[in-house]
Amino acid sequence: MLRSIGSNKINTAVFISGNGSNLRSLLKFSKLKKSPICIKLIISNKSKAKGLRLAKIFKIQKKTLNFFDHSLAEKKILSELKKKKIKLICLAGFMKILSKNFITNFNGKILNIHPSLLPKYKGLDTHKRVIDNKEKYSGCTVHFVNSKLDSGKIIIQKKIKISKNETAQSLAKKILIYEHKIYPKAILKVFNH
Ligand code: GRF
Repeated sequence: MLRSIGSNKINTAVFISGNGSNLRSLLKFSKLKKSPICIKLIISNKSKAKGLRLAKIFKIQKKTLNFFDHSLAEKKILSELKKKKIKLICLAGFMKILSKNFITNFNGKILNIHPSLLPKYKGLDTHKRVIDNKEKYSGCTVHFVNSKLDSGKIIIQKKIKISKNETAQSLAKKILIYEHKIYPKAILKVFNH
């Protein structure tokens, strides 16, 4: 894995579509001495994504692309990643599915966080489906990205108990707290720290 000269850390891009609370946790983590990553770029498919505000606060470059033409957007992103020598992508609430072509052409690792105990509950509306099915447990997973949705090799998982009167909203809130903890842990695990 190529590390950037000077900082000796892995150049990383974080892809978001919304609030960016996972992005915030990754940015904070990246500032720690023990962190193997340095976040150089934030990519969003939505110009109004709240998380983009963090770019200014943390002085990180950001780029917004509409995905009307999916393959063109991916092409532009790939060239940006190459320019910045990005070797790790962290998907953090990014709501677009990256193509097989993108994944094979990106010269580095891609990680994603998903709010369920994969392989259960891939895809959208996770918490609602978990509650509707009266599951006793749920959780979150960080995994490598491959060309199948939420299906790459699992790096780390956190299991949590579902309370009696749990709703999809309360569950989402509860799990998000653990997401913020396991994403940095997964990165440390991947890069053997
Ligand atoms: C998280 O629950 C993440 O697991 C899912 O989308 C949500 C994004 O939240 N893929 P945030 O934008 O990081 O706050």
